[in-house]
Amino acid sequence: MSYDLTTQFTGLKFVNPFVLASAPPTESKRKILKAFEAGWGGVVTKTIGLHPVENVAGPKTIFQRASEEKPYVSRNKRADTVSHSSWNWELISDQPLEQWLPDLEEIKTTYPDRMVIGSIMAGAGNEEELENWRKLARAVVNAGCDALELNMSCPHMDRKDMGAHIANDEDIIRSILGAVTGAVDVPVWVKLTPATSTLVDAAGAAYDAGASCISLCNTFPSLPLMDPETFKFEVEVDGLVTSGGLGGLAILHQALQRVSDISRAYPDKAISGIGGIKGFREAFNFIAHGAGNLQICTAAMEEKGSGGIGVNLIKDLTTDLGDYLERKGYSSIEEFRGIARERIVEHSQVRRKSDAYNGGYAKSA
Ligand SMILES: Cc1cc2nc3c(=O)[nH]c(=O)nc-3n(C[C@H](O)[C@H](O)[C@H](O)COP(=O)(O)O)c2cc1C
Repeated sequence: MSYDLTTQFTGLKFVNPFVLASAPPTESKRKILKAFEAGWGGVVTKTIGLHPVENVAGPKTIFQRASEEKPYVSRNKRADTVSHSSWNWELISDQPLEQWLPDLEEIKTTYPDRMVIGSIMAGAGNEEELENWRKLARAVVNAGCDALELNMSCPHMDRKDMGAHIANDEDIIRSILGAVTGAVDVPVWVKLTPATSTLVDAAGAAYDAGASCISLCNTFPSLPLMDPETFKFEVEVDGLVTSGGLGGLAILHQALQRVSDISRAYPDKAISGIGGIKGFREAFNFIAHGAGNLQICTAAMEEKGSGGIGVNLIKDLTTDLGDYLERKGYSSIEEFRGIARERIVEHSQVRRKSDAYNGGYAKSA
Protein backbone atom coordinates (compact mmCIF):
# COMPACT_ATOMS: atom_id res chain seq x y z
CA MET A 1 0.00 0.00 0.00
CA SER A 2 1.29 3.48 -0.78
CA TYR A 3 1.25 6.05 1.97
CA ASP A 4 0.90 9.78 1.91
CA LEU A 5 2.36 12.21 4.43
CA THR A 6 0.13 14.95 3.07
CA THR A 7 -2.51 16.05 5.56
CA GLN A 8 -5.51 18.29 5.20
CA PHE A 9 -5.79 20.30 8.37
CA THR A 10 -8.20 23.21 8.96
CA GLY A 11 -8.79 23.25 5.21
CA LEU A 12 -5.08 23.64 4.41
CA LYS A 13 -2.84 21.14 2.65
CA PHE A 14 0.34 20.30 4.57
CA VAL A 15 3.01 18.30 2.71
CA ASN A 16 3.62 16.63 6.05
CA PRO A 17 1.97 17.27 9.43
CA PHE A 18 5.14 18.59 11.13
CA VAL A 19 5.28 22.29 11.85
CA LEU A 20 7.84 24.42 13.68
CA ALA A 21 6.08 26.09 16.61
CA SER A 22 6.07 29.81 17.27
CA ALA A 23 9.47 30.37 18.91
CA PRO A 24 13.14 31.08 18.02
CA PRO A 25 13.15 28.52 15.13
CA THR A 26 10.59 30.74 13.35
CA GLU A 27 11.82 34.15 14.48
CA SER A 28 13.32 35.27 11.15
CA LYS A 29 13.02 34.92 7.39
CA ARG A 30 16.44 33.28 7.28
CA LYS A 31 15.48 30.52 9.72
CA ILE A 32 12.07 29.89 8.15
CA LEU A 33 13.55 29.57 4.64
CA LYS A 34 16.12 27.13 6.04
CA ALA A 35 13.37 25.18 7.77
CA PHE A 36 11.40 24.80 4.56
CA GLU A 37 14.52 23.77 2.69
CA ALA A 38 15.01 21.07 5.35
CA GLY A 39 11.47 19.76 4.78
CA TRP A 40 9.16 21.16 7.47
CA GLY A 41 5.53 21.15 6.36
CA GLY A 42 4.79 24.52 7.90
CA VAL A 43 5.78 27.12 10.43
CA VAL A 44 3.93 29.17 12.99
CA THR A 45 5.83 32.44 13.04
CA LYS A 46 7.29 33.76 16.28
CA THR A 47 4.41 35.81 17.72
CA ILE A 48 4.08 39.26 16.16
CA GLY A 49 2.60 42.16 18.15
CA LEU A 50 2.31 45.93 18.27
CA HIS A 51 3.18 46.63 21.92
CA PRO A 52 6.71 47.40 23.24
CA VAL A 53 8.98 44.35 23.64
CA GLU A 54 12.29 44.26 25.48
CA ASN A 55 13.82 41.02 26.66
CA VAL A 56 15.76 40.45 29.89
CA ALA A 57 19.41 41.49 30.07
CA GLY A 58 20.64 37.90 30.16
CA PRO A 59 20.01 34.50 28.58
CA LYS A 60 16.41 34.13 27.37
CA THR A 61 16.40 30.32 27.22
CA ILE A 62 18.27 27.51 28.95
CA PHE A 63 18.26 23.81 28.16
CA GLN A 64 18.15 21.52 31.17
CA ARG A 65 19.51 18.01 31.05
CA ALA A 66 19.05 15.00 33.32
CA SER A 67 21.66 12.46 34.40
CA GLU A 68 22.64 10.14 37.23
CA GLU A 69 25.25 12.72 38.15
CA LYS A 70 24.62 15.42 40.75
CA PRO A 71 22.90 17.75 40.21
CA TYR A 72 20.28 15.52 38.61
CA VAL A 73 18.49 18.14 36.48
CA SER A 74 20.56 21.12 35.52
CA ARG A 75 21.76 23.24 32.66
CA ASN A 76 25.31 22.47 33.83
CA LYS A 77 27.32 20.62 31.24
CA ARG A 78 28.04 17.04 32.34
CA ALA A 79 28.85 13.76 30.62
CA ASP A 80 26.08 11.32 29.67
CA THR A 81 23.13 13.65 30.03
CA VAL A 82 19.84 13.50 28.20
CA SER A 83 17.49 16.32 27.40
CA HIS A 84 14.97 17.14 30.13
CA SER A 85 13.43 20.50 29.19
CA SER A 86 13.81 24.02 27.98
CA TRP A 87 13.10 26.93 30.30
CA ASN A 88 12.57 30.37 28.82
CA TRP A 89 11.34 33.82 29.68
CA GLU A 90 11.53 35.20 26.17
CA LEU A 91 8.91 37.70 25.05
CA ILE A 92 7.24 37.71 21.64
CA SER A 93 9.08 38.85 18.51
CA ASP A 94 10.99 42.09 18.80
CA GLN A 95 11.00 42.41 15.02
CA PRO A 96 8.41 45.06 14.08
CA LEU A 97 5.38 44.21 11.96
CA GLU A 98 6.67 46.42 9.12
CA GLN A 99 9.75 44.23 8.85
CA TRP A 100 7.79 40.98 9.07
CA LEU A 101 5.51 41.81 6.14
CA PRO A 102 8.04 41.80 3.27
CA ASP A 103 9.74 38.78 4.90
CA LEU A 104 6.46 36.83 4.95
CA GLU A 105 5.83 37.70 1.31
CA GLU A 106 9.26 36.44 0.30
CA ILE A 107 8.87 33.24 2.33
CA LYS A 108 5.50 32.47 0.75
CA THR A 109 6.72 33.27 -2.77
CA THR A 110 9.75 31.05 -2.30
CA TYR A 111 7.80 28.13 -0.79
CA PRO A 112 4.18 28.41 -1.97
CA ASP A 113 3.42 24.78 -1.01
CA ARG A 114 4.42 25.23 2.66
CA MET A 115 2.00 26.54 5.23
CA VAL A 116 2.83 29.78 7.01
CA ILE A 117 0.69 30.45 10.06
CA GLY A 118 1.07 33.97 11.40
CA SER A 119 1.08 34.05 15.20
CA ILE A 120 -0.26 37.36 16.50
CA MET A 121 -0.97 38.84 19.91
CA ALA A 122 -2.61 42.03 21.18
CA GLY A 123 -4.44 43.08 24.33
CA ALA A 124 -8.07 42.82 25.34
CA GLY A 125 -10.95 44.58 26.97
CA ASN A 126 -11.37 47.62 24.75
CA GLU A 127 -11.99 48.56 21.13
CA GLU A 128 -8.45 49.85 20.62
CA GLU A 129 -6.97 46.43 21.41
CA LEU A 130 -9.55 44.63 19.26
CA GLU A 131 -8.49 46.95 16.45
CA ASN A 132 -4.87 45.90 17.07
CA TRP A 133 -5.88 42.26 16.56
CA ARG A 134 -7.64 43.21 13.32
CA LYS A 135 -4.68 45.26 12.12
CA LEU A 136 -2.22 42.44 12.79
CA ALA A 137 -4.52 39.85 11.23
CA ARG A 138 -5.15 41.81 8.03
CA ALA A 139 -1.49 42.71 7.63
CA VAL A 140 -0.04 39.20 7.92
CA VAL A 141 -2.81 37.64 5.82
CA ASN A 142 -2.26 40.25 3.09
CA ALA A 143 1.44 39.36 3.23
CA GLY A 144 0.56 35.75 2.40
CA CYS A 145 -0.05 33.88 5.67
CA ASP A 146 -2.27 30.85 5.10
CA ALA A 147 -3.74 30.93 8.61
CA LEU A 148 -3.45 32.74 11.90
CA GLU A 149 -2.64 31.51 15.37
CA LEU A 150 -3.95 33.81 18.10
CA ASN A 151 -1.55 33.79 21.03
CA MET A 152 -3.70 33.55 24.16
CA SER A 153 -1.02 31.65 26.02
CA CYS A 154 2.18 33.67 26.39
CA PRO A 155 3.14 33.04 30.04
CA HIS A 156 5.51 36.01 30.30
CA MET A 157 3.29 39.08 30.37
CA ASP A 158 2.82 41.47 33.30
CA ARG A 159 -0.04 42.99 31.30
CA LYS A 160 -3.19 41.33 32.58
CA ASP A 161 -5.00 41.81 29.26
CA MET A 162 -2.55 39.67 27.28
CA GLY A 163 -1.32 36.15 26.69
CA ALA A 164 -2.04 33.46 29.26
CA HIS A 165 -3.98 35.90 31.45
CA ILE A 166 -6.87 36.14 29.00
CA ALA A 167 -7.34 32.47 28.24
CA ASN A 168 -9.51 32.03 31.33
CA ASP A 169 -12.06 34.56 30.14
CA GLU A 170 -14.60 33.19 27.67
CA ASP A 171 -16.04 36.64 26.88
CA ILE A 172 -12.62 37.93 25.93
CA ILE A 173 -11.88 34.85 23.84
CA ARG A 174 -15.17 35.35 21.99
CA SER A 175 -14.62 39.07 21.44
CA ILE A 176 -11.13 38.60 20.01
CA LEU A 177 -12.27 35.80 17.72
CA GLY A 178 -15.20 37.94 16.62
CA ALA A 179 -12.84 40.77 15.71
CA VAL A 180 -10.34 38.57 13.88
CA THR A 181 -12.78 36.34 11.99
CA GLY A 182 -14.63 39.49 10.91
CA ALA A 183 -11.41 40.96 9.53
CA VAL A 184 -9.89 38.06 7.57
CA ASP A 185 -10.99 34.99 5.73
CA VAL A 186 -8.39 32.36 6.66
CA PRO A 187 -8.46 29.56 9.25
CA VAL A 188 -7.94 30.95 12.74
CA TRP A 189 -6.06 28.76 15.21
CA VAL A 190 -6.10 29.66 18.91
CA LYS A 191 -3.18 28.79 21.18
CA LEU A 192 -4.45 28.47 24.73
CA THR A 193 -2.48 28.22 27.93
CA PRO A 194 -2.37 24.80 29.61
CA ALA A 195 -2.19 26.63 32.96
CA THR A 196 -5.89 26.85 33.66
CA SER A 197 -8.47 24.58 35.21
CA THR A 198 -11.04 25.80 32.68
CA LEU A 199 -9.20 24.75 29.53
CA VAL A 200 -12.03 22.66 28.12
CA ASP A 201 -14.52 25.53 28.54
CA ALA A 202 -12.06 28.00 27.04
CA ALA A 203 -11.53 25.69 24.05
CA GLY A 204 -15.31 25.31 23.67
CA ALA A 205 -15.75 29.09 23.65
CA ALA A 206 -13.01 29.46 21.04
CA TYR A 207 -14.44 26.78 18.74
CA ASP A 208 -17.90 28.23 19.17
CA ALA A 209 -16.65 31.71 18.24
CA GLY A 210 -15.06 30.48 15.01
CA ALA A 211 -11.68 28.97 15.88
CA SER A 212 -10.67 26.32 13.34
CA CYS A 213 -8.23 24.70 15.71
CA ILE A 214 -6.91 24.78 19.25
CA SER A 215 -3.13 24.66 19.49
CA LEU A 216 -1.62 23.45 22.72
CA CYS A 217 0.40 23.40 24.76
CA ASN A 218 2.41 26.53 25.21
CA THR A 219 5.09 26.19 27.87
CA PHE A 220 4.04 25.54 31.48
CA PRO A 221 4.67 28.35 34.01
CA SER A 222 7.64 27.32 36.11
CA LEU A 223 10.72 28.48 38.00
CA PRO A 224 14.35 27.57 37.38
CA LEU A 225 16.25 25.66 40.07
CA MET A 226 18.40 27.32 42.73
CA ASP A 227 21.85 25.98 43.59
CA PRO A 228 21.96 25.03 47.30
CA GLU A 229 25.61 26.17 47.63
CA THR A 230 25.63 29.47 45.78
CA PHE A 231 21.94 30.38 46.09
CA LYS A 232 22.05 31.31 42.39
CA PHE A 233 19.18 30.37 40.11
CA GLU A 234 20.21 28.50 36.99
CA VAL A 235 19.11 31.60 35.14
CA GLU A 236 18.73 35.01 36.75
CA VAL A 237 19.46 38.68 36.17
CA ASP A 238 20.97 40.58 39.12
CA GLY A 239 19.86 37.71 41.37
CA LEU A 240 16.25 37.99 40.29
CA VAL A 241 14.02 35.65 38.34
CA THR A 242 10.35 35.40 37.50
CA SER A 243 7.97 32.77 36.24
CA GLY A 244 9.12 31.36 32.90
CA GLY A 245 7.95 28.58 30.61
CA LEU A 246 8.92 24.92 30.73
CA GLY A 247 8.98 23.08 27.40
CA GLY A 248 10.45 19.91 25.93
CA LEU A 249 10.25 16.31 27.07
CA ALA A 250 9.35 17.24 30.66
CA ILE A 251 5.91 18.50 29.57
CA LEU A 252 5.01 15.68 27.17
CA HIS A 253 2.65 13.77 29.45
CA GLN A 254 0.90 16.89 30.72
CA ALA A 255 0.48 18.17 27.17
CA LEU A 256 -1.02 14.85 26.06
CA GLN A 257 -3.53 15.00 28.89
CA ARG A 258 -4.63 18.51 27.87
CA VAL A 259 -4.97 17.46 24.23
CA SER A 260 -6.94 14.39 25.29
CA ASP A 261 -9.32 16.49 27.41
CA ILE A 262 -10.13 18.77 24.50
CA SER A 263 -10.26 15.98 21.96
CA ARG A 264 -12.72 13.95 24.04
CA ALA A 265 -14.91 16.99 24.68
CA TYR A 266 -14.93 18.07 21.01
CA PRO A 267 -14.05 14.98 18.96
CA ASP A 268 -14.97 16.60 15.65
CA LYS A 269 -12.79 19.66 16.14
CA ALA A 270 -9.18 20.18 15.08
CA ILE A 271 -6.21 20.20 17.47
CA SER A 272 -2.59 21.03 16.78
CA GLY A 273 -0.56 19.09 19.36
CA ILE A 274 2.50 20.68 20.97
CA GLY A 275 4.72 19.81 23.90
CA GLY A 276 7.75 17.57 24.17
CA ILE A 277 7.80 16.08 20.69
CA LYS A 278 11.30 14.77 20.01
CA GLY A 279 10.55 12.14 17.42
CA PHE A 280 7.87 9.95 15.89
CA ARG A 281 6.92 8.18 19.12
CA GLU A 282 5.79 11.38 20.83
CA ALA A 283 4.14 12.63 17.63
CA PHE A 284 2.25 9.33 17.38
CA ASN A 285 0.86 9.83 20.87
CA PHE A 286 -0.53 13.27 20.06
CA ILE A 287 -2.17 11.86 16.91
CA ALA A 288 -3.56 8.91 18.87
CA HIS A 289 -5.24 11.39 21.23
CA GLY A 290 -6.77 13.28 18.31
CA ALA A 291 -4.26 15.87 17.05
CA GLY A 292 -4.17 16.28 13.27
CA ASN A 293 -1.09 18.46 13.21
CA LEU A 294 2.10 18.54 15.31
CA GLN A 295 4.19 21.50 16.41
CA ILE A 296 7.74 21.31 17.69
CA CYS A 297 10.05 23.81 19.35
CA THR A 298 12.55 22.62 21.98
CA ALA A 299 13.78 19.55 20.10
CA ALA A 300 14.51 21.69 17.02
CA MET A 301 16.31 24.33 19.10
CA GLU A 302 18.41 21.70 20.83
CA GLU A 303 19.65 20.01 17.67
CA LYS A 304 23.35 20.69 17.33
CA GLY A 305 24.80 22.06 14.11
CA SER A 306 21.53 22.85 12.33
CA GLY A 307 21.09 26.46 13.38
CA GLY A 308 18.30 25.55 15.77
CA ILE A 309 15.72 24.54 13.18
CA GLY A 310 15.88 20.74 13.40
CA VAL A 311 17.29 19.74 10.00
CA ASN A 312 17.84 16.13 11.07
CA LEU A 313 14.72 16.10 13.21
CA ILE A 314 12.35 16.76 10.30
CA LYS A 315 14.11 14.12 8.22
CA ASP A 316 13.72 11.58 11.01
CA LEU A 317 10.09 12.56 11.68
CA THR A 318 9.03 12.17 8.05
CA THR A 319 11.03 8.99 7.50
CA ASP A 320 9.77 7.37 10.69
CA LEU A 321 6.15 8.36 10.05
CA GLY A 322 6.42 7.04 6.48
CA ASP A 323 7.93 3.75 7.67
CA TYR A 324 5.17 3.40 10.26
CA LEU A 325 2.37 4.02 7.77
CA GLU A 326 3.89 1.49 5.40
CA ARG A 327 4.46 -1.16 8.09
CA LYS A 328 0.94 -0.80 9.49
CA GLY A 329 -0.73 -0.54 6.09
CA TYR A 330 -2.18 2.90 6.81
CA SER A 331 -2.62 5.33 3.93
CA SER A 332 -2.48 8.43 6.15
CA ILE A 333 -2.46 9.57 9.78
CA GLU A 334 -6.24 9.89 9.61
CA GLU A 335 -6.48 6.10 9.90
CA PHE A 336 -5.12 6.08 13.45
CA ARG A 337 -5.92 9.61 14.58
CA GLY A 338 -7.91 9.49 17.83
CA ILE A 339 -7.48 5.76 18.49
CA ALA A 340 -6.64 6.44 22.15
CA ARG A 341 -9.71 8.61 22.71
CA GLU A 342 -12.22 5.97 23.84
CA ARG A 343 -9.73 4.29 26.14
CA ILE A 344 -9.36 7.34 28.38
CA VAL A 345 -12.10 6.90 30.97
CA GLU A 346 -13.21 7.91 34.47
CA HIS A 347 -11.30 6.33 37.35
CA SER A 348 -14.28 4.21 38.36
CA GLN A 349 -14.48 2.73 34.86
CA VAL A 350 -11.10 1.07 35.30
CA ARG A 351 -11.54 -2.46 36.66
CA ARG A 352 -10.83 -3.05 40.39
CA LYS A 353 -10.24 -6.36 42.09
CA SER A 354 -13.81 -6.22 43.40
CA ASP A 355 -16.78 -4.36 41.94
CA ALA A 356 -17.33 -2.36 45.14
CA TYR A 357 -15.61 0.86 44.05
CA ASN A 358 -17.82 3.62 42.69
CA GLY A 359 -15.40 6.50 42.15
CA GLY A 360 -15.44 7.36 45.85
CA TYR A 361 -19.25 7.55 46.02
CA ALA A 362 -21.34 5.12 48.03
CA LYS A 363 -22.92 2.57 45.70
CA SER A 364 -26.64 3.09 45.29
CA ALA A 365 -28.76 0.08 46.13
C1 LIG B 1 12.44 30.28 23.72
C2 LIG B 1 10.98 30.05 23.44
C3 LIG B 1 10.22 31.08 22.90
C4 LIG B 1 8.86 30.88 22.64
N1 LIG B 1 8.13 31.90 22.09
C5 LIG B 1 6.81 31.70 21.79
C6 LIG B 1 6.05 32.70 21.13
O1 LIG B 1 6.54 33.79 20.79
N2 LIG B 1 4.74 32.44 20.88
C7 LIG B 1 4.15 31.25 21.21
O2 LIG B 1 2.96 31.05 20.94
N3 LIG B 1 4.86 30.27 21.81
C8 LIG B 1 6.17 30.47 22.10
N4 LIG B 1 6.91 29.46 22.67
C9 LIG B 1 6.24 28.16 23.01
C10 LIG B 1 6.44 27.12 21.91
O3 LIG B 1 5.84 27.52 20.70
C11 LIG B 1 5.83 25.75 22.33
O4 LIG B 1 4.46 25.92 22.54
C12 LIG B 1 6.46 25.20 23.62
O5 LIG B 1 7.86 25.41 23.64
C13 LIG B 1 6.16 23.70 23.79
O6 LIG B 1 6.70 22.95 22.74
P1 LIG B 1 8.08 22.10 22.90
O7 LIG B 1 7.91 21.19 24.06
O8 LIG B 1 8.25 21.40 21.59
O9 LIG B 1 9.16 23.11 23.16
C14 LIG B 1 8.26 29.64 22.93
C15 LIG B 1 9.05 28.60 23.46
C16 LIG B 1 10.40 28.79 23.71
C17 LIG B 1 11.23 27.65 24.27
